[in-house]
Amino acid sequence: MSSSLKLVFYNSNHFDELNSYDLDESQSEFTVSVYESIVVRKVESISGKYSITIMLEEKPIGYFVLDFTDDKFNYTNCQDAVLLRSLSLNPDFQGKGLGKASMLLTDEFVQTHFPEIKKIVLSVNFRNLSAYQLYQKTGYIDTGRIFEGIRGPQRIMEKFLNEF
Ligand SMILES: CC(C)(COP(=O)(O)OP(=O)(O)OC[C@H]1O[C@@H](n2cnc3c(N)ncnc32)[C@H](O)[C@@H]1OP(=O)(O)O)[C@@H](O)C(=O)NCCC(=O)NCCS
Repeated sequence: MSSSLKLVFYNSNHFDELNSYDLDESQSEFTVSVYESIVVRKVESISGKYSITIMLEEKPIGYFVLDFTDDKFNYTNCQDAVLLRSLSLNPDFQGKGLGKASMLLTDEFVQTHFPEIKKIVLSVNFRNLSAYQLYQKTGYIDTGRIFEGIRGPQRIMEKFLNEF
């Protein structure tokens, strides 16, 4: 199933599909909805932030943001890092390994489009154990550093990109 999975830069044709799913309360507190990201925060108009769409068989099923702005320095002091944030997957497609496959595809996507980047950094709420496991299973290391988020403490995780 995941062979037809790919990552592409978001465009407005993806919005309706991405805006069609809601996360339940147990998940929505841990991320930002596509509506919030695109419509409220206007991520697409911010220099250094890129919305990425997760596509399965040409259907937009998930979303995240690659953030190259100085916000990343809340999580790392590495200049050549990118902050991955606002990850969500349409619940109809969760639990099938697609989140894992998407995170693995992200390495190559970043290396292809942003070859100067050496590290991906992210943070995950202490209570979001499923996402924590997902990141561990896709090569992210818990740095032991903590970011105090508005929803509670977050573990800072990172992954060095190897040449492939
Ligand atoms: C996090 C998210 C993208 C994972 O996507 P997914 O496709 O369901 O994940 P996968 O099926 O690839 O699972 C990968 C691993 O995550 C963990 N996991 C995923 N869903 C889980 C669940 N409901 N319960 C426990 N562990 C879970 C498991 O360790 C799993 O590995 P396994 O398949 O070997 O058991 C998705 O659950 C989501 O959109 N969550 C809401 C938003 C969120 O929390 N975003 C992350 C913010 S840091």
